[in-house]
Amino acid sequence: MLELKNISFSVREDGMTKEIIRNVSMTIPDEKLVVITGPNGGGKSTLARLIAGIEKPTEGKIFLNGEDITEKSITERARMGIGFAFQQPVRFKGIQVLDLIRLATGKHLAVADACEYLSAVGLCAKDYIDREVNSSLSGGELKRIEIATVLAKASVLSVFDEPEAGIDLWSFQNLIQVFEDMRKHIAGSSILVISHQERILNIADEIIVLKDGQLITHGSRDEVLPQLSGDTTAVAGCCRLGGLAELRELKGEDFRC
Ligand SMILES: Nc1ncnc2c1ncn2[C@@H]1O[C@H](COP(=O)(O)OP(=O)(O)O)[C@@H](O)[C@H]1O
Ligand SMILES: [Mg+2]
Repeated sequence: MLELKNISFSVREDGMTKEIIRNVSMTIPDEKLVVITGPNGGGKSTLARLIAGIEKPTEGKIFLNGEDITEKSITERARMGIGFAFQQPVRFKGIQVLDLIRLATGKHLAVADACEYLSAVGLCAKDYIDREVNSSLSGGELKRIEIATVLAKASVLSVFDEPEAGIDLWSFQNLIQVFEDMRKHIAGSSILVISHQERILNIADEIIVLKDGQLITHGSRDEVLPQLSGDTTAVAGCCRLGGLAELRELKGEDFRC
């Protein structure tokens, strides 16, 4: 179980203090798939970085299974079982996909086992296993490889920041399947996904809405989805929450809510 207690995060910008996360408290219970959604710029990725230890909160505390991890480094948190897939994955020149998956598991995984993780994210394993994780990979490929490494890691808490970003429609179907499978085998772990996708919201146990750095809502899917979507889609809900600029980015300048 992950607990955030009164987490705030601010940065100094042009001599001013900019508050990005404002007094957020939440619990991600064991064996639940929790989705965080909300408008662009609302602080979702920042919150994910705070959980992974990439940023340290200005105020508040973070607990993993009751242990205070607020001052722990990224590496320590990774060792404690926090797996993380970035919104914009990092490229590793000189490292092969196989190495990356082996690094994630922390053991000398057989090639066939590593390939299974790639297949799970819809990549033909034999075409990718020896590839270098460099700029020759497309954004979508890189994203899927990163998701495969998080699957391989079998974390206590797996965090995915907008896993759908840069993924084509066909792969998206697979991605939903990946999360559905993870949900089925969730025993002893929890999953936190940041997403705007209705199909991901639909498989959530709980949904959190973050806006302007504040937690607006946290409840079961059945409680929160109707608030987001009325009778239509999460897209409409996102519009209502002020995500129009982001939706235009995704769907083109002509997009109207
Ligand atoms: N290190 C930083 N310095 C300055 N501004 C930041 C920093 N990190 C995030 N922000 C700003 O904080 C806000 C929230 O960003 P982010 O967490 O990426 O939101 P989301 O993932 O919900 O779109 C944005 O306005 C972003 O520009
Ligand atoms: Mg983000």
